Amino acid sequence: MNTLDLSPRTLQTLAHTHGTPLWVMDAPTIRRQVERLRAFDAIRYAQKANPNTHVLRLMRSLGVKVDAVSRGEALRALAAGYCGGAARAPLAEAAAAEIVYTADLLDRESLDFVVQQGLVVNCGSLDMLHQLGARSPGHAVWLRLNPGFGHGHSRKTNTGGEGSKHGIWHTQLAEALAVIRATGLRLLGLHMHIGSGVDYGHLAQVGAAMLAALTVVHAAGMDVHAVSAGGGLSIPYRAGDPAVDTDHYFACWDAPRRAAEALFGHPLHLEIEPGRFLVAEAGCLLTEVRAVKRQGAVDYVLVDAGFNELMRPAMYGAHHGLRLIPADERSAGALQPTVVAGPLCESGDVFTQGEGGELRPQPLPPAVVGDLLVVDHTGAYGSAMSSNYNSRPLAAEVLVDGATARLIRRRQSVEELLALEAV
Ligand code: LLP
Repeated sequence: MNTLDLSPRTLQTLAHTHGTPLWVMDAPTIRRQVERLRAFDAIRYAQKANPNTHVLRLMRSLGVKVDAVSRGEALRALAAGYCGGAARAPLAEAAAAEIVYTADLLDRESLDFVVQQGLVVNCGSLDMLHQLGARSPGHAVWLRLNPGFGHGHSRKTNTGGEGSKHGIWHTQLAEALAVIRATGLRLLGLHMHIGSGVDYGHLAQVGAAMLAALTVVHAAGMDVHAVSAGGGLSIPYRAGDPAVDTDHYFACWDAPRRAAEALFGHPLHLEIEPGRFLVAEAGCLLTEVRAVKRQGAVDYVLVDAGFNELMRPAMYGAHHGLRLIPADERSAGALQPTVVAGPLCESGDVFTQGEGGELRPQPLPPAVVGDLLVVDHTGAYGSAMSSNYNSRPLAAEVLVDGATARLIRRRQSVEELLALEAV
């Protein structure tokens, strides 16, 4: 399934104009995904999926709030106009709530930063609470809880249970509340995020775990005003994958929220914190075929993008649909199982592989040098996870909105990489 409504001709023009590899983002797809989650009181974009400031500006224009997991991400949000724009310390409370800083630890620089800015902090460890409480009594916090179970499309994206470092363990909630009370921190809400690419069964369980946690808060004589369902919603990466039933998902959270409202005797603000769901389908990666070869019985197509651009197949065995756009008018030949690989000096630099690194060829028509290969659904954790491995500069990024296409990140140069070492 391809949700990018961009024609092959448009993609070819973008590739010719900006060169390859090229990240393409489609604004209407992002707007559509935001609308699908409007039942929640607030949508908070997990910008780690794609932190480009132009994407953040688009989110902000749609009334979407933002999550930050580092000082850099918080500065990006400020640069995109969140909290009224450029860093002004300290922020007014309502403005500060536009950004929530979520982490399991605060390095010294980040601790100084969140205190100076007055940013709301979602604390994922007791040490974080102690450190923040000692430095900034009265600071507004959320608690990120690990409910004791989790799930993800890969073991590496499961953020719940004992196998994960994330969140305050659910049985330590009472202790966390005691630290909040003792240090004078102000508890705003409870948060659970059990993983990324989570299946329904697990997603549906989290609401019940949240209600249990809210009951502990109430029993401790404390109050909260907000609940976060975290992120984790998947998208149909493969043809035939089910679309996310957002109404059902909202219902899974609305029921425990309402039960907790009866307990506390006041409304609870329910927010969701998706990354992938909002941007994955909005993006593709354009690469050019630069070599075609047969190694024994295996057909390889080598393209000018590698895992330094898109890391997901090498890191998780993630599947991304591939499409070939021929450079000429020739008629497409019969589909044949094809391994698509990049230019890096590593055998794992393959876009068609499973989690153990085994080759997973995809059916493609015969390619020739100069054809365009489109890697679909790369809007989330695509450019965001790129690196400079093999001294390859970061690729350019374009945002398409109907008839207009804007360069939203220029291509990095090797000179910029070398400049860092001119010390
Ligand atoms: N909230 C928190 C606290 C998170 O840690 C994450 C993702 C999200 C929200 C957003 O999750 P999403 O809605 O995007 O599933 N690099 C991996 C995904 C890692 C996600 C990390 N945390 C991938 O490419 O699949």
